Amino acid sequence: MMKNSKRCLSMLYVALSMGCGTVSAKNVEVLHWWTSGGEAEAAQVLKQTLEEQGYQWQDFAIAGGGGETAMTVLKTRAVSGNPPEAAQIKGPDIQEWGRLGFLVSLDDVSQQHRWDELIPEVIANSMKYQSHYVAVPLNIHRVNWLWANTTLLRDVGITQPPTTLQQFFQVAERIKQAGHIPLAHGGQPWQDVTLFEVIALDVLGPEMYRQAFVDNRMDVLSGEHMVEVFTQFKRMHDYIDPNYRGRDWNVATAMVIQGKAAMQLMGDWAKGEFIAAGKKPGIDYLCVPALGTTNEFSYNVDSFAFFEMSRDIDTQAQKALANTIFEPEFQKKFNRTKGSIPIRSDISLDSFDSCAKASKQAFMEAERLGGLVPSMSQGMSTTTYVQSAIFEVVSDFFNNPDGDPEQAAQALAKAVNAAL
Ligand code: BGC
Repeated sequence: MMKNSKRCLSMLYVALSMGCGTVSAKNVEVLHWWTSGGEAEAAQVLKQTLEEQGYQWQDFAIAGGGGETAMTVLKTRAVSGNPPEAAQIKGPDIQEWGRLGFLVSLDDVSQQHRWDELIPEVIANSMKYQSHYVAVPLNIHRVNWLWANTTLLRDVGITQPPTTLQQFFQVAERIKQAGHIPLAHGGQPWQDVTLFEVIALDVLGPEMYRQAFVDNRMDVLSGEHMVEVFTQFKRMHDYIDPNYRGRDWNVATAMVIQGKAAMQLMGDWAKGEFIAAGKKPGIDYLCVPALGTTNEFSYNVDSFAFFEMSRDIDTQAQKALANTIFEPEFQKKFNRTKGSIPIRSDISLDSFDSCAKASKQAFMEAERLGGLVPSMSQGMSTTTYVQSAIFEVVSDFFNNPDGDPEQAAQALAKAVNAAL
Protein backbone atom coordinates (compact mmCIF):
# COMPACT_ATOMS: atom_id res chain seq x y z
CA MET A 1 0.00 0.00 0.00
CA MET A 2 3.01 2.25 0.01
CA LYS A 3 4.08 4.67 -2.66
CA ASN A 4 7.57 4.14 -4.09
CA SER A 5 9.10 7.42 -2.99
CA LYS A 6 7.95 6.88 0.58
CA ARG A 7 9.31 3.35 0.55
CA CYS A 8 12.74 4.58 -0.56
CA LEU A 9 12.86 7.26 2.08
CA SER A 10 11.77 4.79 4.67
CA MET A 11 14.39 2.24 3.60
CA LEU A 12 17.02 4.94 3.70
CA TYR A 13 16.03 5.75 7.25
CA VAL A 14 16.14 2.11 8.29
CA ALA A 15 19.53 1.64 6.65
CA LEU A 16 20.89 4.72 8.34
CA SER A 17 19.53 3.89 11.72
CA MET A 18 20.71 0.27 11.50
CA GLY A 19 24.14 1.60 10.67
CA CYS A 20 24.05 3.69 13.82
CA GLY A 21 22.78 0.67 15.74
CA THR A 22 19.67 2.41 17.05
CA VAL A 23 16.98 0.02 15.79
CA SER A 24 16.69 -3.16 17.80
CA ALA A 25 15.32 -6.28 16.14
CA LYS A 26 12.05 -6.38 18.02
CA ASN A 27 11.54 -2.71 18.49
CA VAL A 28 8.10 -1.10 18.27
CA GLU A 29 7.95 2.65 18.38
CA VAL A 30 4.46 3.72 19.44
CA LEU A 31 3.07 7.22 19.04
CA HIS A 32 0.27 8.18 21.45
CA TRP A 33 -0.89 11.07 23.62
CA TRP A 34 -1.50 9.22 26.89
CA THR A 35 0.45 11.39 29.28
CA SER A 36 -1.93 12.16 32.17
CA GLY A 37 -1.71 10.03 35.36
CA GLY A 38 -4.47 7.56 34.43
CA GLU A 39 -3.51 7.46 30.75
CA ALA A 40 0.17 6.80 31.48
CA GLU A 41 -0.81 3.86 33.71
CA ALA A 42 -2.97 2.44 30.94
CA ALA A 43 -0.14 2.86 28.40
CA GLN A 44 2.13 1.06 30.88
CA VAL A 45 -0.22 -1.96 30.83
CA LEU A 46 0.22 -2.17 27.05
CA LYS A 47 3.96 -1.68 27.20
CA GLN A 48 4.39 -4.34 29.88
CA THR A 49 2.21 -6.92 28.09
CA LEU A 50 4.20 -6.43 24.90
CA GLU A 51 7.57 -6.55 26.64
CA GLU A 52 6.62 -9.83 28.35
CA GLN A 53 6.64 -11.31 24.84
CA GLY A 54 10.19 -10.14 24.19
CA TYR A 55 9.41 -6.95 22.24
CA GLN A 56 10.81 -3.59 23.08
CA TRP A 57 8.41 -0.64 23.43
CA GLN A 58 9.87 2.64 22.33
CA ASP A 59 7.66 5.33 23.76
CA PHE A 60 6.75 8.23 21.48
CA ALA A 61 4.35 10.15 23.73
CA ILE A 62 3.25 13.62 22.63
CA ALA A 63 1.35 15.46 25.35
CA GLY A 64 -1.92 17.18 24.51
CA GLY A 65 -5.41 15.84 25.21
CA GLY A 66 -7.44 15.11 22.11
CA GLY A 67 -4.23 14.34 20.19
CA GLU A 68 -3.97 17.43 17.95
CA THR A 69 -0.24 17.93 18.58
CA ALA A 70 0.45 14.21 18.24
CA MET A 71 -1.20 14.17 14.81
CA THR A 72 0.89 17.12 13.63
CA VAL A 73 4.10 15.38 14.69
CA LEU A 74 2.96 12.14 13.06
CA LYS A 75 2.39 13.88 9.72
CA THR A 76 5.88 15.35 9.78
CA ARG A 77 7.47 11.99 10.57
CA ALA A 78 5.42 10.12 7.97
CA VAL A 79 6.04 12.48 5.07
CA SER A 80 9.76 12.45 5.76
CA GLY A 81 9.68 8.66 5.35
CA ASN A 82 10.29 7.94 9.00
CA PRO A 83 6.98 6.91 10.59
CA PRO A 84 6.81 5.01 13.89
CA GLU A 85 5.74 1.34 13.66
CA ALA A 86 2.42 2.17 15.37
CA ALA A 87 0.39 5.31 15.99
CA GLN A 88 -2.83 6.21 17.76
CA ILE A 89 -5.06 7.23 14.83
CA LYS A 90 -8.81 7.48 15.12
CA GLY A 91 -12.05 7.70 13.18
CA PRO A 92 -12.17 8.89 9.54
CA ASP A 93 -8.46 9.78 9.72
CA ILE A 94 -7.80 6.04 9.50
CA GLN A 95 -9.31 6.00 6.01
CA GLU A 96 -7.35 9.10 5.11
CA TRP A 97 -4.02 7.47 6.03
CA GLY A 98 -5.14 4.28 4.25
CA ARG A 99 -5.98 6.23 1.12
CA LEU A 100 -2.52 7.81 1.14
CA GLY A 101 -1.02 4.32 1.13
CA PHE A 102 0.80 4.38 4.46
CA LEU A 103 -0.88 1.53 6.38
CA VAL A 104 -0.33 -2.19 6.81
CA SER A 105 -3.27 -4.55 6.23
CA LEU A 106 -4.25 -6.51 9.33
CA ASP A 107 -6.45 -9.01 7.51
CA ASP A 108 -4.52 -12.08 8.66
CA VAL A 109 -4.61 -11.27 12.41
CA SER A 110 -8.18 -10.01 12.23
CA GLN A 111 -9.37 -13.21 10.54
CA GLN A 112 -7.42 -15.44 12.87
CA HIS A 113 -8.97 -13.78 15.94
CA ARG A 114 -12.47 -13.22 14.51
CA TRP A 115 -12.49 -9.41 14.85
CA ASP A 116 -15.55 -9.15 12.60
CA GLU A 117 -17.61 -11.25 15.00
CA LEU A 118 -16.39 -9.59 18.17
CA ILE A 119 -16.24 -5.86 17.36
CA PRO A 120 -19.51 -3.87 17.09
CA GLU A 121 -20.16 -3.43 13.36
CA VAL A 122 -20.22 0.36 13.29
CA ILE A 123 -16.77 0.41 14.92
CA ALA A 124 -15.35 -2.42 12.81
CA ASN A 125 -16.24 -0.47 9.67
CA SER A 126 -14.31 2.56 10.82
CA MET A 127 -11.18 0.39 11.32
CA LYS A 128 -11.20 -0.67 7.66
CA TYR A 129 -9.96 0.87 4.46
CA GLN A 130 -11.58 -0.61 1.36
CA SER A 131 -12.92 -3.50 3.48
CA HIS A 132 -9.48 -4.40 4.92
CA TYR A 133 -8.63 -3.84 8.57
CA VAL A 134 -5.86 -1.26 8.84
CA ALA A 135 -6.28 -0.39 12.54
CA VAL A 136 -6.95 -2.28 15.75
CA PRO A 137 -9.39 -0.77 18.29
CA LEU A 138 -8.59 -0.88 22.01
CA ASN A 139 -11.70 0.34 23.74
CA ILE A 140 -14.96 2.27 23.76
CA HIS A 141 -15.03 5.57 25.62
CA ARG A 142 -18.34 7.30 26.27
CA VAL A 143 -18.02 11.06 25.88
CA ASN A 144 -21.37 12.18 27.32
CA TRP A 145 -20.71 11.80 31.03
CA LEU A 146 -21.01 14.17 33.96
CA TRP A 147 -18.61 13.61 36.88
CA ALA A 148 -19.41 14.99 40.33
CA ASN A 149 -17.72 15.21 43.71
CA THR A 150 -20.15 13.63 46.21
CA THR A 151 -18.86 15.48 49.29
CA LEU A 152 -19.07 18.90 47.67
CA LEU A 153 -22.61 18.27 46.43
CA ARG A 154 -23.65 17.05 49.88
CA ASP A 155 -22.04 20.07 51.56
CA VAL A 156 -24.26 22.42 49.58
CA GLY A 157 -27.35 20.27 50.21
CA ILE A 158 -27.65 18.62 46.80
CA THR A 159 -28.62 14.96 46.98
CA GLN A 160 -28.78 14.14 43.26
CA PRO A 161 -26.49 15.33 40.48
CA PRO A 162 -28.30 17.15 37.65
CA THR A 163 -29.57 15.05 34.77
CA THR A 164 -30.98 17.79 32.51
CA LEU A 165 -29.67 21.14 31.31
CA GLN A 166 -32.34 22.96 33.31
CA GLN A 167 -31.41 21.10 36.50
CA PHE A 168 -27.76 21.77 35.79
CA PHE A 169 -28.25 25.53 35.76
CA GLN A 170 -30.27 25.41 39.01
CA VAL A 171 -27.72 23.21 40.78
CA ALA A 172 -24.78 25.20 39.39
CA GLU A 173 -26.32 28.44 40.66
CA ARG A 174 -26.64 26.99 44.17
CA ILE A 175 -23.07 25.78 44.16
CA LYS A 176 -21.87 29.18 42.94
CA GLN A 177 -23.89 30.99 45.63
CA ALA A 178 -22.26 28.74 48.23
CA GLY A 179 -18.84 29.98 47.03
CA HIS A 180 -17.66 26.96 45.02
CA ILE A 181 -16.76 26.43 41.36
CA PRO A 182 -19.69 24.52 39.79
CA LEU A 183 -17.96 23.31 36.61
CA ALA A 184 -14.30 22.36 36.12
CA HIS A 185 -13.28 23.28 32.60
CA GLY A 186 -10.05 23.56 30.67
CA GLY A 187 -10.06 26.29 28.05
CA GLN A 188 -8.48 24.48 25.13
CA PRO A 189 -10.39 24.27 21.85
CA TRP A 190 -10.96 20.49 22.03
CA GLN A 191 -12.32 20.80 25.58
CA ASP A 192 -14.60 23.69 24.60
CA VAL A 193 -15.89 21.48 21.79
CA THR A 194 -16.35 18.48 24.11
CA LEU A 195 -18.64 20.65 26.23
CA PHE A 196 -20.39 21.95 23.12
CA GLU A 197 -20.89 18.40 21.84
CA VAL A 198 -22.79 17.14 24.89
CA ILE A 199 -25.09 20.15 24.77
CA ALA A 200 -25.58 19.62 21.03
CA LEU A 201 -26.47 15.99 21.60
CA ASP A 202 -29.13 17.02 24.10
CA VAL A 203 -30.59 19.95 22.17
CA LEU A 204 -30.42 18.41 18.68
CA GLY A 205 -31.08 14.76 19.56
CA PRO A 206 -29.16 11.95 17.81
CA GLU A 207 -30.75 12.32 14.38
CA MET A 208 -30.10 16.01 13.95
CA TYR A 209 -26.68 15.58 15.59
CA ARG A 210 -25.77 13.13 12.80
CA GLN A 211 -27.17 15.45 10.13
CA ALA A 212 -24.96 18.24 11.46
CA PHE A 213 -21.72 16.46 12.30
CA VAL A 214 -21.68 13.34 10.14
CA ASP A 215 -23.58 14.51 7.04
CA ASN A 216 -22.41 18.15 7.37
CA ARG A 217 -25.84 19.48 6.42
CA MET A 218 -25.69 23.24 6.03
CA ASP A 219 -29.34 23.82 6.97
CA VAL A 220 -28.84 22.01 10.28
CA LEU A 221 -25.45 23.56 11.04
CA SER A 222 -26.87 27.05 10.64
CA GLY A 223 -30.45 26.30 11.73
CA GLU A 224 -32.47 27.48 14.71
CA HIS A 225 -31.67 24.39 16.81
CA MET A 226 -27.97 25.06 16.39
CA VAL A 227 -28.57 28.64 17.53
CA GLU A 228 -30.13 27.15 20.67
CA VAL A 229 -27.08 24.90 21.17
CA PHE A 230 -24.81 27.97 21.09
CA THR A 231 -27.15 29.83 23.45
CA GLN A 232 -27.09 27.08 26.09
CA PHE A 233 -23.37 26.53 25.59
CA LYS A 234 -22.71 30.19 26.36
CA ARG A 235 -24.60 29.95 29.67
CA MET A 236 -22.03 27.40 30.87
CA HIS A 237 -19.48 30.19 30.97
CA ASP A 238 -21.13 31.62 34.08
CA TYR A 239 -20.26 28.49 36.03
CA ILE A 240 -16.57 28.02 35.33
CA ASP A 241 -13.72 29.81 37.11
CA PRO A 242 -11.80 32.70 35.51
CA ASN A 243 -8.53 30.71 35.33
CA TYR A 244 -9.83 28.12 32.87
CA ARG A 245 -7.85 29.21 29.81
CA GLY A 246 -5.21 26.74 28.67
CA ARG A 247 -5.88 24.36 31.55
CA ASP A 248 -5.36 20.67 30.72
CA TRP A 249 -8.38 18.38 31.00
CA ASN A 250 -6.79 16.26 33.71
CA VAL A 251 -6.04 19.34 35.80
CA ALA A 252 -9.77 20.13 35.54
CA THR A 253 -10.58 16.55 36.61
CA ALA A 254 -8.20 16.96 39.56
CA MET A 255 -10.26 19.97 40.67
CA VAL A 256 -13.30 17.67 40.98
CA ILE A 257 -11.24 14.92 42.64
CA GLN A 258 -9.93 17.38 45.23
CA GLY A 259 -13.28 19.09 45.82
CA LYS A 260 -12.11 22.39 44.28
CA ALA A 261 -14.94 22.15 41.73
CA ALA A 262 -18.20 20.22 41.85
CA MET A 263 -18.60 18.74 38.35
CA GLN A 264 -16.97 18.14 34.99
CA LEU A 265 -18.50 17.24 31.63
CA MET A 266 -15.92 14.96 30.04
CA GLY A 267 -15.47 11.51 28.49
CA ASP A 268 -14.69 8.57 30.76
CA TRP A 269 -10.93 8.90 30.37
CA ALA A 270 -11.62 11.25 33.32
CA LYS A 271 -12.47 8.12 35.30
CA GLY A 272 -8.88 6.96 34.75
CA GLU A 273 -7.82 9.99 36.83
CA PHE A 274 -10.27 9.16 39.64
CA ILE A 275 -8.97 5.56 39.61
CA ALA A 276 -5.32 6.68 39.66
CA ALA A 277 -6.16 8.89 42.67
CA GLY A 278 -7.66 5.86 44.49
CA LYS A 279 -11.24 7.23 44.39
CA LYS A 280 -14.33 5.02 44.32
CA PRO A 281 -17.47 5.56 42.21
CA GLY A 282 -20.65 5.99 44.24
CA ILE A 283 -18.58 6.94 47.29
CA ASP A 284 -16.12 9.68 46.34
CA TYR A 285 -17.56 10.58 42.97
CA LEU A 286 -20.57 10.00 40.76
CA CYS A 287 -20.84 9.27 37.05
CA VAL A 288 -24.16 10.14 35.43
CA PRO A 289 -25.07 10.50 31.75
CA ALA A 290 -24.49 14.07 30.62
CA LEU A 291 -27.46 16.42 30.77
CA GLY A 292 -30.48 15.06 28.90
CA THR A 293 -28.50 12.35 27.07
CA THR A 294 -29.36 9.21 29.08
CA ASN A 295 -30.46 7.38 25.95
CA GLU A 296 -27.58 8.53 23.82
CA PHE A 297 -24.02 7.34 23.60
CA SER A 298 -21.39 9.47 21.94
CA TYR A 299 -18.60 7.00 21.27
CA ASN A 300 -14.88 7.55 21.06
CA VAL A 301 -12.71 4.59 20.13
CA ASP A 302 -8.96 4.56 20.60
CA SER A 303 -7.19 2.62 17.90
CA PHE A 304 -3.71 1.97 16.62
CA ALA A 305 -2.74 1.88 12.96
CA PHE A 306 0.51 0.39 11.73
CA PHE A 307 2.81 1.96 9.18
CA GLU A 308 4.40 0.07 6.30
CA MET A 309 8.03 -0.63 7.18
CA SER A 310 10.61 -2.32 5.01
CA ARG A 311 11.68 -5.15 7.31
CA ASP A 312 9.71 -8.34 8.08
CA ILE A 313 10.83 -8.14 11.67
CA ASP A 314 8.94 -4.84 12.06
CA THR A 315 5.80 -6.39 10.63
CA GLN A 316 6.07 -9.25 13.13
CA ALA A 317 6.33 -6.79 16.00
CA GLN A 318 3.38 -4.79 14.67
CA LYS A 319 1.24 -7.92 14.46
CA ALA A 320 2.28 -8.95 17.98
CA LEU A 321 1.07 -5.57 19.19
CA ALA A 322 -2.25 -5.94 17.33
CA ASN A 323 -2.75 -9.43 18.80
CA THR A 324 -1.86 -8.22 22.30
CA ILE A 325 -4.41 -5.42 22.10
CA PHE A 326 -7.16 -7.87 21.22
CA GLU A 327 -6.26 -10.42 23.87
CA PRO A 328 -9.06 -10.78 26.55
CA GLU A 329 -6.90 -10.42 29.68
CA PHE A 330 -5.21 -7.33 28.25
CA GLN A 331 -8.60 -5.89 27.31
CA LYS A 332 -9.76 -6.20 30.93
CA LYS A 333 -6.63 -4.82 32.56
CA PHE A 334 -6.20 -1.94 30.13
CA ASN A 335 -9.82 -0.79 30.15
CA ARG A 336 -10.16 -1.01 33.94
CA THR A 337 -7.24 1.43 34.11
CA LYS A 338 -8.19 3.68 31.18
CA GLY A 339 -11.82 4.27 32.20
CA SER A 340 -13.27 2.78 29.01
CA ILE A 341 -15.00 -0.53 28.26
CA PRO A 342 -13.53 -3.40 26.21
CA ILE A 343 -13.93 -3.38 22.46
CA ARG A 344 -14.75 -7.10 22.43
CA SER A 345 -18.40 -7.90 22.98
CA ASP A 346 -17.56 -11.30 24.56
CA ILE A 347 -15.80 -9.92 27.65
CA SER A 348 -17.61 -10.07 31.00
CA LEU A 349 -17.64 -6.83 32.96
CA ASP A 350 -17.94 -8.59 36.35
CA SER A 351 -14.57 -7.24 37.47
CA PHE A 352 -15.36 -3.67 36.29
CA ASP A 353 -16.84 -0.82 38.35
CA SER A 354 -20.43 0.46 38.23
CA CYS A 355 -19.63 3.28 35.73
CA ALA A 356 -18.21 0.78 33.22
CA LYS A 357 -21.21 -1.50 33.66
CA ALA A 358 -23.53 1.48 33.10
CA SER A 359 -21.53 2.45 30.02
CA LYS A 360 -21.87 -1.00 28.45
CA GLN A 361 -25.60 -1.05 29.18
CA ALA A 362 -25.97 2.42 27.66
CA PHE A 363 -24.01 1.39 24.56
CA MET A 364 -26.26 -1.60 23.91
CA GLU A 365 -29.45 0.40 24.50
CA ALA A 366 -28.29 3.26 22.31
CA GLU A 367 -27.30 0.84 19.57
CA ARG A 368 -30.75 -0.76 19.73
CA LEU A 369 -32.69 2.50 19.86
CA GLY A 370 -30.70 4.66 17.44
CA GLY A 371 -28.92 6.81 20.04
CA LEU A 372 -25.39 5.76 19.15
CA VAL A 373 -23.42 8.65 17.61
CA PRO A 374 -19.74 9.15 16.74
CA SER A 375 -18.09 11.82 18.84
CA MET A 376 -17.35 14.92 16.80
CA SER A 377 -15.05 16.45 19.44
CA GLN A 378 -12.88 13.30 19.52
CA GLY A 379 -12.49 12.98 15.76
CA MET A 380 -14.90 10.10 15.23
CA SER A 381 -17.44 11.78 12.98
CA THR A 382 -15.36 13.65 10.47
CA THR A 383 -11.85 14.30 9.15
CA THR A 384 -9.40 16.57 10.97
CA TYR A 385 -10.02 19.31 8.35
CA VAL A 386 -13.72 19.65 9.17
CA GLN A 387 -13.06 19.07 12.85
CA SER A 388 -10.49 21.91 12.99
CA ALA A 389 -12.97 24.26 11.30
CA ILE A 390 -15.59 23.43 13.95
CA PHE A 391 -13.04 23.80 16.77
CA GLU A 392 -12.17 27.30 15.65
CA VAL A 393 -15.72 28.62 15.43
CA VAL A 394 -16.92 26.98 18.66
CA SER A 395 -13.90 27.95 20.72
CA ASP A 396 -13.83 31.55 19.44
CA PHE A 397 -17.50 31.91 20.31
CA PHE A 398 -17.05 30.49 23.82
CA ASN A 399 -14.13 32.77 24.58
CA ASN A 400 -15.69 35.93 23.16
CA PRO A 401 -17.93 37.70 25.69
CA ASP A 402 -19.78 39.34 22.79
CA GLY A 403 -20.23 36.11 20.81
CA ASP A 404 -23.63 35.99 19.15
CA PRO A 405 -25.34 32.54 18.85
CA GLU A 406 -27.00 33.32 15.50
CA GLN A 407 -23.81 34.56 13.92
CA ALA A 408 -21.92 31.59 15.38
CA ALA A 409 -24.32 29.09 13.77
CA GLN A 410 -23.90 30.87 10.41
CA ALA A 411 -20.13 30.88 10.83
CA LEU A 412 -20.18 27.19 11.70
CA ALA A 413 -21.94 26.23 8.47
CA LYS A 414 -19.60 28.41 6.42
CA ALA A 415 -16.47 27.03 8.06
CA VAL A 416 -17.57 23.41 7.58
CA ASN A 417 -18.50 24.08 3.98
CA ALA A 418 -15.08 25.57 3.29
CA ALA A 419 -13.33 22.58 4.87
CA LEU A 420 -15.22 19.88 2.95
C1 BGC B 1 -8.53 9.93 23.52
C2 BGC B 1 -8.43 9.37 24.92
C3 BGC B 1 -7.63 10.32 25.77
C4 BGC B 1 -8.23 11.73 25.70
C5 BGC B 1 -7.51 12.78 26.51
C6 BGC B 1 -9.06 11.35 23.55
O1 BGC B 1 -9.10 11.88 22.25
O2 BGC B 1 -9.38 9.13 22.75
O3 BGC B 1 -7.82 8.10 24.92
O4 BGC B 1 -7.57 9.85 27.07
O5 BGC B 1 -8.23 12.16 24.34
O6 BGC B 1 -6.16 12.80 26.24
